[in-house]
Amino acid sequence: MDRTPDQPLSPRKLEAQARACACAVAHLLWQALVAKRPADRSLAAYLRAHRECGSRDRRLFSETFFAVLRWWGWLRPFAPPFPANEPDPARVRAEDYARLLVAAWLLEDEPLPEVAEIWRRQAGLGREALSTGNGKTPALAQRWRCLLPLGNTPGQRFETAHLLPDWCAAETTNPRRQEELVEWLQRRPPVWLRAQVDPAQALRELTQAGLAPQPHPRRPDAIAIAPPRLNLRDLPAFRDGHLEIQDLASQTIAAVCAPLPGERWWDACAGAGGKTLHMATLMHSKGSIVASDIRTYKLEDLRKRARRAGFSNIRCREWKGKDLPAKKGGFDGVLVDAPCSCSGTWRRNPDARWTLEREEIAEFAEKQLALLRNAAGAVRRGGVLVYATCSLFDAENEGVVQAFLAAQPDFALEPFPHPLAEGQCAGQLRLWPWDGDCDAMFVARFRRG
Ligand SMILES: C[S@@+](CC[C@H](N)C(=O)[O-])C[C@H]1O[C@@H](n2cnc3c(N)ncnc32)[C@H](O)[C@@H]1O
Repeated sequence: MDRTPDQPLSPRKLEAQARACACAVAHLLWQALVAKRPADRSLAAYLRAHRECGSRDRRLFSETFFAVLRWWGWLRPFAPPFPANEPDPARVRAEDYARLLVAAWLLEDEPLPEVAEIWRRQAGLGREALSTGNGKTPALAQRWRCLLPLGNTPGQRFETAHLLPDWCAAETTNPRRQEELVEWLQRRPPVWLRAQVDPAQALRELTQAGLAPQPHPRRPDAIAIAPPRLNLRDLPAFRDGHLEIQDLASQTIAAVCAPLPGERWWDACAGAGGKTLHMATLMHSKGSIVASDIRTYKLEDLRKRARRAGFSNIRCREWKGKDLPAKKGGFDGVLVDAPCSCSGTWRRNPDARWTLEREEIAEFAEKQLALLRNAAGAVRRGGVLVYATCSLFDAENEGVVQAFLAAQPDFALEPFPHPLAEGQCAGQLRLWPWDGDCDAMFVARFRRG
């Protein structure tokens, strides 16, 4: 994490920042947890509407809001009750949130922001309250102890499992201890970039920008950086389409597709095209890709990104999940990166842990199977079908694969090289955050007989 110290703020400005941050978090928490609006979008909208916030305010609001969401399973008793209606940030009593915000920062295991001292006073806490945390109690199972000086939270037990929904462990087959998964999900993730043209040049540019890039040992085009203070989109490499922001786990999917130059591929659920662009790179712009999605506004983004990167072989089409965009068997390969619970991204999107309902998992699985079966018709005999989700849950992953194979005996799982390690995968792969300091992902590769 880039922790170059800022110039200290005057006491008056610091007071104002502490208050503004508490008001923003109160408003945004209501939006995320009561109105169930995606936290990243609410935060972006809030900052657009509050142009008076400088870059330091933005960073503080964002880090504090996401810290509260990440630790919400333990922090609930520190928060005032949610109002029935959306709170007006101008009317929020900032003091009511001070204890919650101190608690969130103590748990984060990061240096405390200057405003923590103000929140401590507003919450009526003694100086000793801030003497814990900050990496002094790193083991997750013991981390709650830093909250002891904050006073009683009646009835609250701080168990690791409480940091995820209580049904989560029953829905996922985790090869390690569940505590280890939670530990990973509590860590702030790095930003992963993908060098679309020349990894060495990208590393030089990122180093010149002071971003200390770390290439992945097995995937030189995958580069990790600490969350930057500058806007990455202002870098020339981004403006020229030489770099894309894409989590490492997502970067493995095009590698599993392994499209060859000259082939004809369909990216059925392309969204804004993260994986389409990666496939086009692997195909050296030779051959063609049809990119489709039910949400055509996403395809507009894809068109812009493809133009910026100079790919002329990507065609965008609306796809509502049924009729094929070409004649049956018209593609060498099809990728179905299906809509899912997105639980594999809970590290980046901690709000989603508290808004997903268990019943939704079965609904996703049903939709995924239908999309996969419909899209499979477009694969030529001898062609490849790849199914991917960013879900942690068995039903959306191996469950869909089993149901698909039972219904489509002309398809079989096909082994592929592990995209992040030595060895082969037997047709399907789960990636966990510990496999590369990344999101969790699932991928299966089929060959049509
Ligand atoms: C996991 S996201 C795709 C992400 C994208 N492949 C990427 O790499 O950025 C799943 C996509 O499926 C789309 N989708 C949802 N329902 C669909 C349907 N019935 N038919 C086609 N696409 C659908 C969503 O709009 C969403 O963009």
